Amino acid sequence: MKKVLIDCDPGIDDALALALAAGSPDLDVVGVTTVGGNVDLELTTANALALREFLDLGDVPVTPGSAGALLHRTVRAGHVHGATGLGDVVLPAPVRPLSDGHAVDFIMDALRAAPGEITLIAVGPLTNIALAVRREPRVVEWARELVIMGGSYTRGNHNPAAEFNMLADPEAAAIVFEAGWQVRQLGLDVTLSALVTTDVLDRMRPLGRLSELLVPAAQFYGVVTAEGGPAIHDACAVAYVLDPSLFTCVPAVVNVETMGTYTRGMTVTDFNLRGREANALVATSVDVKGFWDLVLGAYGRLGRR
Ligand code: BDR
Ligand code: CA
Repeated sequence: MKKVLIDCDPGIDDALALALAAGSPDLDVVGVTTVGGNVDLELTTANALALREFLDLGDVPVTPGSAGALLHRTVRAGHVHGATGLGDVVLPAPVRPLSDGHAVDFIMDALRAAPGEITLIAVGPLTNIALAVRREPRVVEWARELVIMGGSYTRGNHNPAAEFNMLADPEAAAIVFEAGWQVRQLGLDVTLSALVTTDVLDRMRPLGRLSELLVPAAQFYGVVTAEGGPAIHDACAVAYVLDPSLFTCVPAVVNVETMGTYTRGMTVTDFNLRGREANALVATSVDVKGFWDLVLGAYGRLGRR
């Protein structure tokens, strides 16, 4: 059983990533921390709290973190995820409260208490992770691995150069990539292959109560067609932890552009190491059929509960 701590900004695809974790008996979710990203922190936190109960995540602590980027003005993606962050899905109001404290403390304390055991999965802007690294550099040694959804070596989505999670806090992303660990990076290069097609959507429909989240969320997120549909980016990071063999990964030196007028937030990726140590293991392809079998298998287990 792998222990994971998920830092997120739900967010439609964050919700689908949490659902994948919740439906995977091989994962032990030790905590969910939130960050302002797709929508404001109050909303990402409220969504995480509602998802914990809807997805049957038990007593997993949900701890709020950073509201905004380290340095620059806030960027949001409400136009993609809807005003609340979950499209037009309205989840039952949660009964249990938020945990006290701050996400950055939670991350440091959890990793300190179990060195080498917990995989950090970050699927929002990297503000909390960067602050944890600055407050306690040993989190880099204590984490079993850091797996992120973010960046790309070929393109952006928020603009031609930058992927949203990187653009939302480029300084934080730069700190995280420079921290001394080998970041497992699931970027747009692979996540844009994990599309909710009509076939995938049809496999989500019979999943009982869970389908009331999955189907409208996916439909809100993008137009579903036989050839393509919305990408559920964040689920790729959880899928990687569950089965890394689904992805081809290549070591690289990744630097995050923090100053470019047109390229701020770009992950400048050099696969030619020239003797340097790789600070990232970058996913370059995904077994799409294997990915959906894994994801829909987990959703099926959760839907049958
Ligand atoms: C990433 O940005 C957010 O909008 C999504 O939740 C995902 O984490 C995709 O670029
Ligand atoms: Ca996200």
